[in-house]
Amino acid sequence: MFLSRLLTAAALLCSVTLLPAQSPVPVSPAIRARVDALIAKMSVDDKLKLIGGVDSFYTQAIPSIALKRLKMSDGPVGVRTFGLAPAYTAGVALAATWDPALAERVGASLGDDARARGVNFLLAPGVNIYRSPLNGRNMEYFGEDPFLAARIAVGYIEGVQSKGVSATVKHFAANNSEYDRHRINSIIDERTLRELYLPAFEAAVTEAHVGAVMDSYNLVNGEHSTQNAHLNKDILRHDWGFQGVVMSDWTATYDGLAAANGGLDLEMPFAKLMTPETLKGGLASGKLTMDVLDEKCRRILGTAIQFGWLDRDQTISSIPLNNPNADRVTLEESLESITLLKNEGGLLPLDPTRVKTLAVIGPEAAVAVVGGGGSSQTTPFQANSFVAGLMQAAGTRLKVMYAPGLPPLATIFGRTSFRNLTVGVNGKGEPPRTENTDRGLSRINTWNGVGGGGSGGPRGAGLTTYDYKGEYLPTAPGEHVLIASAPEQDTYRVLIDGKEVLSQQKDSNRMAVRNVSVALTENKPVSVEVVYQTNGTTPRLGVGLVASADMLSPDAQKILHDADAVLVTVGFDASTESEGFDRTYDMPWPQNELIQQVTALNPKTIVSITAGGAVETAPWIANVPALLHNWYPGQQGSTALAQILFGDHSPEGHLPFSWERTLDQDPASAHYAEEPGESRIVRYDEGLFLGYRFYTSMNQKPLFPFGFGMSYTNFAFTHLNVKKNSDDDVEVSFTVQNTGSRAGADVAQVYVGDPSAKLKRPLMELKQFSKVRLNAGETQHVVLHLNKRAFSYYDVDAKNWRMDPGEFVIYVGDSSESIPLKQSFPM
Ligand code: BGC
Repeated sequence: MFLSRLLTAAALLCSVTLLPAQSPVPVSPAIRARVDALIAKMSVDDKLKLIGGVDSFYTQAIPSIALKRLKMSDGPVGVRTFGLAPAYTAGVALAATWDPALAERVGASLGDDARARGVNFLLAPGVNIYRSPLNGRNMEYFGEDPFLAARIAVGYIEGVQSKGVSATVKHFAANNSEYDRHRINSIIDERTLRELYLPAFEAAVTEAHVGAVMDSYNLVNGEHSTQNAHLNKDILRHDWGFQGVVMSDWTATYDGLAAANGGLDLEMPFAKLMTPETLKGGLASGKLTMDVLDEKCRRILGTAIQFGWLDRDQTISSIPLNNPNADRVTLEESLESITLLKNEGGLLPLDPTRVKTLAVIGPEAAVAVVGGGGSSQTTPFQANSFVAGLMQAAGTRLKVMYAPGLPPLATIFGRTSFRNLTVGVNGKGEPPRTENTDRGLSRINTWNGVGGGGSGGPRGAGLTTYDYKGEYLPTAPGEHVLIASAPEQDTYRVLIDGKEVLSQQKDSNRMAVRNVSVALTENKPVSVEVVYQTNGTTPRLGVGLVASADMLSPDAQKILHDADAVLVTVGFDASTESEGFDRTYDMPWPQNELIQQVTALNPKTIVSITAGGAVETAPWIANVPALLHNWYPGQQGSTALAQILFGDHSPEGHLPFSWERTLDQDPASAHYAEEPGESRIVRYDEGLFLGYRFYTSMNQKPLFPFGFGMSYTNFAFTHLNVKKNSDDDVEVSFTVQNTGSRAGADVAQVYVGDPSAKLKRPLMELKQFSKVRLNAGETQHVVLHLNKRAFSYYDVDAKNWRMDPGEFVIYVGDSSESIPLKQSFPM
């Protein structure tokens, strides 16, 4: 046994150390000369060809300079574009680890996965700020704070690029919602942009030397990102000195010449608007210069040379596609990210002398929900469901029972079968037609995430109407629930026996799962008609029927009642939280009801949430003694959750965002939806006062503060000392002690306040942090350094960062609300 463990460990070690480190080399005169020589050999046609993609995820080969096509794959949680791949935890979970060194190990493992598949550009990480819990892509990003997001991004990118793979930081910029993403116009003042929404991109460029930046779909202050010269030229190139490739998001171009002149280097996934014809026209009319075109080629070729792609094969076939290192790294991620938010009466960890039977229920229990939906959705080679993982880990310690409740929505949609179904299609410029379909109405799983704008496709593509007609035969008696879901831009009406029972009106603003009770008679068929109208390029509609009695059967109720404790696994999945649409604050129906029913049967209820951010808790939080956030945990989530529930690992995740009591407490929610009308304007009127910057400055208490996370042990902070070594180096030192009786980790957070600033600033802002791992009783002296930027704000007039001399305050603690140490000092 011991020997086999030793051998496995040795094999793992080899798989880690044998893979080459092939970090990009800095741009040098020699690289410039090589680029110039290649450019000199290229015809204008070659140049025009190089700047538009092909086959969804490649650049085009240029035979005249022996350049092979460069391959791209989506991330950020797996190299997912070419089939099964290791699935890591969500970005928001990685941020919840507060562990940049771990982010680097994750990045390196992804880099290996990319090399196993010959991928040159990984389309990751996503570093857009968590502005509201409703954004459908929060799970891909690193939370609400620019400093935390920047540290995690730098670790991730350095890891990926150490393997000779270019990271592609996305989506530049102010892309903080998915709703109608091609048309949303983010109106945001320069200071807020620079202080909150750009620093993670800036660090990716100036510190991690990222190889590529992806421009977003939305407009920023009236101009689409792909043609926004202020973003792509003034900021990215001039202020930050970016020398890599600016590529478009997939079909995120809207004007070929404007994009060519606005700083876009590479149009993906193909030359849709920056076409050879358009650009040749521009060259002929003088609206485009050859220098501008050459510059784009220089950046693409320079990046290829820096990363070594011209001089070696990008595929390393000795790296297994199911890279075993990934399991180890992503288990670390899950263990470090699962966040304990409430633990009354010490219900957790489960005490085997008191808890002999654990019942597990909820839509996330019996299927492994590794990630959210859209282009990040990764299908792993293997992943256990929570219940399977818990059963495996429980061994003889305790009995794990599964109580079936309602399955996930996608399963309900998939199981609902309609007889004699026809669909009339009218639109897309095609003549109206009627066809038989055996696909049912359940189109919710048609999302393939392969770019193209997905369900948020550009408007103007024309409306398409699908008119489904069929029959439903109830096989259970009594009340049924009719459930439907479609992107928020789409509309639908559902009619049963000719009577409208459910509908989604135009522009409902966010993806909602709608439901209504209908009385049906067992074995008596009813006619069903669904009229679905979509503007998007990928129709996505799910319609299902389920008997209300199936929500919690008498058998399930007995299991829940008799168990010593119950784990309710709730939240979202790839069909309800995804790229392409915004989600609801409430978890999809009927999860609030399920938690309420369970707590009534068994007060020892632990709720664990799968989501990319905060959810509505008001209906049940007071009756739930233990609450965990397990994020989208990747392929090792069930092992990690079991270790945490059974006490083999103490939870150590800390929230990378503030969790509001109710949605309207959140400062951005009043400004989240677009203004009425056709212009799709979203004003970032909360400005700098986002998340904890708002709560701490306005003296309001959220439900759970930014940076908060509990452990099975306790920590004490003492002995703060602030020492100014120079204007650019302030040393902050303090002591952290594990005062509890078991090992654990805490996140020491250093916030800076600037009460004497000439401009209004948030009360405090995160400027350093450190994860401290301590055995019971152990103490660590922590020394952190703050540079000048940590004390500065962005001065819009001076177009630079500025520090106002005066009084500053240093706050140290383990959340934005738990600040045991504080010291003022002059600068
Ligand atoms: C997403 C990008 C992704 C691209 C390619 C787009 O829809 O916004 O994040 O990299 O598709 O799949």
